[in-house]
Amino acid sequence: SADTVTLGDDGIPVVDITAAGLSRTPLQRAMGIARDHGPIFRRRLHGRDATFVTSVDLVTELADETRFEKAIGPALENVREFAADGLFTAYNDEPNWAKAHDILMPAFALGSMRTYHPAMLKVARRLMASWDRRIADGAPVDVPDDMTRMTLDTIGLAGFGFDFESFGREQPHPFVDAMVRCLEWSMTRLARKPGVDYSEKDEAFRADADYLASVVDEVISARTASGDTSPGSAGETPTADDLLGLMLGAPHPVDGTTLDTANIRNQVITFLIAGHETTSGALSFALYHLLKDPVALRLARREADELFGDAADPDPSFEDIGKLAFTRQVLNEALRLWPTAAAFSRRAKTDTVLGGRYAVKAGEIFTVLTPMLHRDPVWGDNPELFDPARFSPEAEAARSPHAYKPFGTGERACIGRQFALHEATMLLALLVHRYRFEDHGDYALSIKETLTLKPDGFTVRLAERSAAH
Ligand code: HEM
Repeated sequence: SADTVTLGDDGIPVVDITAAGLSRTPLQRAMGIARDHGPIFRRRLHGRDATFVTSVDLVTELADETRFEKAIGPALENVREFAADGLFTAYNDEPNWAKAHDILMPAFALGSMRTYHPAMLKVARRLMASWDRRIADGAPVDVPDDMTRMTLDTIGLAGFGFDFESFGREQPHPFVDAMVRCLEWSMTRLARKPGVDYSEKDEAFRADADYLASVVDEVISARTASGDTSPGSAGETPTADDLLGLMLGAPHPVDGTTLDTANIRNQVITFLIAGHETTSGALSFALYHLLKDPVALRLARREADELFGDAADPDPSFEDIGKLAFTRQVLNEALRLWPTAAAFSRRAKTDTVLGGRYAVKAGEIFTVLTPMLHRDPVWGDNPELFDPARFSPEAEAARSPHAYKPFGTGERACIGRQFALHEATMLLALLVHRYRFEDHGDYALSIKETLTLKPDGFTVRLAERSAAH
């Protein structure tokens, strides 16, 4: 390739990719560099460096919260342009991070998943009603598009009592397109060449960000106008205990203050995006792997059949979802190969030494390239193989917890992990129970990057299972 490789004074290889540029798939490009130069390397572009780390040993150190902390790296700095001090993009020392974290944590405790369960099931049924119509037409379904419809409607309804009605639309809700363009802007802005005028791109981004903010205002005013909750003064309990209810009304458990209006907007936009985009990709990859792996599909089906029997329209309870152990392993394994939020960054809190040999200055940032961490030798000699058995309880107990980080690490790890896994496990089980999938185009995996990962152009044709017997 046109890359030039040198060795830094600190012993870390420097791979300059300026000649070729960043391409539309920077993450996959970084994976390629990691294969040649890992487990630690600097990628140089137009004189700007990003340091990537891929091994379990080094990531174990980066996960040590006494030495490292979450960093808002350049990509998240760009996301801050539209999510500001929302939970995902807040700086560690920004008071609104701890405040919102404390206020919103109860909404993600296990008991809260129970309250979201009916909304999740309702939207899962919308997806299936839409897929049933496709069977009647004989038309294939676009998996990532429909998974995005499902996850957007779910976070909207469960978190905010707001209905995006995505299955009633030919095209995805315009919120999705605007969001994807904002995420793309955040990604491609990293590759800008010095001396080029990008003002047109920036204006288009501004218009999209303004549109996202207008949807957020609609979500908030739908709630405040309905009188479901009062934007409470300190001490008042919200009448609605979903995310928006907590944001609007709940006082901080210790100091009694509530979130301010500007921060509420930033939280709503953050949760609408973080709450659906990555789960959609995870479901799409899981279905892709099931389509290509008849053994895993059979096991997932057997598990769903045991739970649902021949019910034409199963009615899983909250507790049922916890019984879908193999289905959960399928999701875990899909997130191992393709963690849909594929990188996270850590900053050194003090001067330190990494891996016993790399001198690190306080403030230095390291980005964990999660898909390569998930292909570290601890995963065996065939890490590309999709194998849900890697997540059997025995296998998990035998492996370092730092070998698997699809949800990030430490205090700033994903707050929505249980939400995502409950929603996705239930949907996968319902889908394998109801449908046969036909790989009508002999789909070859191609991954689209818009800061997050999705299988590109992935469609399947469906048949009802009962019709197969
Ligand atoms: C943080 C991944 C689903 C809300 C994170 C981080 C990762 C991640 C890697 C840490 C980022 C960093 O260190 O910079 C995922 C994946 C998901 C998922 C792979 C689905 C499969 C969700 C859902 C929600 C959510 C469903 C909300 C309902 C958040 C929030 C943060 C976060 C608010 C920031 C937490 C904080 O810093 O306090 N997620 N996420 N995520 N996620 Fe998720």
